[in-house]
Formats: sequence, structure tokens, C-alpha cells
Amino acid sequence: MSNLIGIDVGTTGTRAIVIDAGGRIIGSATHEHVPFASPETGWAEQDPRDWWQATCGAVPAALAAAGITGEEITAVGFSGQMHGSVLLDDRGEVIRPALIWCDQRTEAQCREITDTVGAARLIELTYNPALTGFTLPKLLWVREHEPQAWAQVTALLLPKDYVRYRLTGDRATDVADASGTLLFDVGGRRWSGDMLDAMELDAAILPRAYESPEVTGTVSTEGAAATGLRQGTPVVAGGGDQAAGAVGMGIVRAGAVSATIGTSGVVFAATDRPALDSQGRVHTFCHAVPGRWHIMGVTQGAGLSLRWFRDQFATGADDGRDPYERLTDEAARVPPGSDGVLWAPYLMGERTPHLDPHARAALIGLAASHTRAHVIRAILEGVTFSLKDTFSIFASMQVPVTGVRLGGGGARSGLWRQIQADVYGHPVEIVEAEEGAAYGAALLAGVGGGVWRTVEDACDAVVRVAARITPDPATQAIMAKQYEAFRAIYPATRSIGRE
Ligand code: XUL
Repeated sequence: MSNLIGIDVGTTGTRAIVIDAGGRIIGSATHEHVPFASPETGWAEQDPRDWWQATCGAVPAALAAAGITGEEITAVGFSGQMHGSVLLDDRGEVIRPALIWCDQRTEAQCREITDTVGAARLIELTYNPALTGFTLPKLLWVREHEPQAWAQVTALLLPKDYVRYRLTGDRATDVADASGTLLFDVGGRRWSGDMLDAMELDAAILPRAYESPEVTGTVSTEGAAATGLRQGTPVVAGGGDQAAGAVGMGIVRAGAVSATIGTSGVVFAATDRPALDSQGRVHTFCHAVPGRWHIMGVTQGAGLSLRWFRDQFATGADDGRDPYERLTDEAARVPPGSDGVLWAPYLMGERTPHLDPHARAALIGLAASHTRAHVIRAILEGVTFSLKDTFSIFASMQVPVTGVRLGGGGARSGLWRQIQADVYGHPVEIVEAEEGAAYGAALLAGVGGGVWRTVEDACDAVVRVAARITPDPATQAIMAKQYEAFRAIYPATRSIGRE
């Protein structure tokens, strides 16, 4: 029997999942990372070596949980947090901590890129505007602020690809993850020579870019000794976490859409073409499916909004129940529309649709009659309205939406599922194995390892729908009205508190 392993190098931890050829999860384990350092406001850094350590913990633990050895693994797949900058010297050593996806220090470098290349030309070359989270501005920041560190750079890798490098010795990435660097020709699915020339960067620092199910190398002797995998096991390219997560939920054909609420919230659509929003409000990236692309809108402070509320205002008696369950139960006592209370979830600035790292959250519409439950429900609704903004942009781009699947914490709460159906105005589905990006990575490994012929075949064989929730027409109308009120918040509050 062929077993497969998917390794997701996330922000808070690395998760390894072992599946069998029927797609059943037979073992999994997560090892936490040291929380990211924020030496200055808006900075976010992690030591890549910590990701490798976590992998060396999670992989043997997942194999043990599955009751198998590395000998019984057919192929390995990766997924990971996107956009991070791992800089290596000529001995393959890490030069400085990686600036990760949520680091916001590069506003000046984004302006510099846009001025040098030209806003329209930049979108023509990379299909995306310069955003603070992307990789290229991070490289420029290091080049400008730490010239001694920059002088040692011989290689750039993305987070999961550093772990691949330690496991196999190969410098490789996949087209989906490479799309988030701003150095990739997303339409042509190859590195952009024009961008490298414009930014005076040497192509030799870049890893080779593969399609996600392609084999990039095999587990080395050292990699095998550190993880318990068999030396020579094929390793596939895998995908950035969003693309791999979409594969895990079966979002692989045009029209299929997912809405995932984790710390951030992402609405993701698979497309047959590299669809472009001329204002760059959604990202246009290659999909982990050969010949397909995806577009996605990102709400920075999605699940984060509820976590922030829990940490700041919900520190009460511990009755042993899941704290989020307690919060959503409380919110369910309040009618749809939260009796007029509104939440704009911009705790960490916002990507879609405002592209504004300085945007701030707002709680609006309070009266003395409102309770804590109103605020909690308003948070659930406000996060969902913010994700709805991406659906509105998809509609303006004529991107079809034939079905919506939910992922992340937002898919686990019954109340939040219904709110999403009512706000998006589409039936929403929950899949059986909602296991995130590591599961998608394992499916990609299965394609590269010959278990399935294509990514679509893999999804058709193993992704099953567990529940379907339909919108309630009366609630949908209330939510449509609230959404219009929500849309007025950002323009009305935008200038408050700015210098
Ligand atoms: C995608 C993005 C996040 C990170 C962290 O653009 O920034 O999904 O990959 O998970």
C-alpha cells in the first residue's frame, strides 16, 4: 500500500500528515515554532532553522502515529507560509532571520519597485502590484539596510523550500509559491528576467521553479537520518499554503471557490486563465494544478479578530469548554445583523480590497442596549463582510463562482457557517478531511509518486463533501443591507488617526 506524507511549514508550527492511497489520514503531528520576533513595530522574523527542527520533530511523530516507518512512504510533498525571504550564503548557511509574510516594513521598497518598473508594467510582468508582504521588497530592504548581510547572499529560498533544501539538498520551489515573490512571470509560469534586470538582481540566487506535482529531488542521506524518511524517497515541489490548501479541499477547476478563515481570511478561486484585477486588489497567482491559475483576496485580521476579542475581553471562568465555542454560542443569542452593530476587522491593516497597511479596525453602531454578545456576533459578521468584498471583486472580473467550500476555524462553527452562506449568498460546503495545506501537499505527493494521474484525479478520488448549508432568504436580505453599511465604514473612517 502506498502511503504519502505532506509537510506544511506554517507560521505557528510545522504539521506533517500521513495518508494512505485512499486519502485517509493515518497519522499526523504538529511541532510548534518559536513565535515570530517583532524587533520593531510591523516587523515579523523567524529563524528558518527552527522550521527544520520542527520538521525533524513532526515527521517521525506522524510516522509513529501512523504506525509505519519511512520505508513505507512513496513520496513527500510540501506546503508552507508564502512570501518569506530565506537568505543563504555560499555554504548554504542562513545569513539572517527570514522576513515573513506578515512583515510590513517595506513600504518604501514597494514605492521604489513601482517607480522603477512602472505600476502598469509591473502588473504586466508579474500580474500583481508591489505589496509589503511580498518577497522582492524584502530583498531590497536587506540590500539597502544590511549591505554586509546582502554581500553574502548566494541563494534565496521560500520558507518550505528551505526545509526541502535541508531534506534533499536541492534548491527548488513551485510555481504557486514563486508567484508571491513579485519576481515571477505568473502568466508564463517562469521567473521574470525583466523583473530581475529592472531590480538588478542575479538570476543565480533563485531556485528552479517546478509545477507542483513534479519531483524536485529525493531525500538525502542526511535528510533521512534527521527525519526517519527513507533515503531516495521522491519529493515533489508542492505549493504555497493557499494553493496546497485549495487542492486539499478540491478547489482545482474553474468556478470552484473556497473561503478559509484562519488568522487571516482568504477567498480563493481556481481559474483557467491568469485573471487580472486592474487595481490589483486580489492576487493573481499560478495554481498548484498545472495549466491553472488562481485569484485570491486576503483579509488580514479574520480569525485574528475573534482571537483578539477572546484575549482582551473574554478572560473569564474556565469551564473546560473550547473558548471559541463559548463565544459563538453567546453570539447566537443575538439576531442576524447584530441589531446594527458593525465590525471592520482591520487590526493588521488590510489587503483586499483596500491595500492599506495603515487601515484600522472599527466597532460602530453601539447603543446602551447592546451587549457583549452583539459585539461577538458583529465580529463574526464583519469578518465575513470583509471576505464578501473579494466575492464582489470576483463578480466585477466576471470570474465564475459555481460552488463555495469553507475551511479553517470559520468552517468549524455552525453559526459562522450559516453567516457565511447568508452573506456570500451561495450554498456553502464542508469537506470531510478539512486538514488544510498539509493534506493538499500529501495529494500533490501522490500525483508525483504515481498514485494518481493528475491533481484533479486525486481530488475526485478522495475529497468528499460532509455537509452543505444553504442561505436563508430572509437573513440574506438583512445581511445584504448590513453589508452596504459595512462598505461605508472604511471610506468614512480612513483619515481618522493618520498623521
Ligand atoms: C498568502 C499569505 C498567507 C501566508 C501565511 O498570500 O500571505 O497565506 O502564506 O499563511
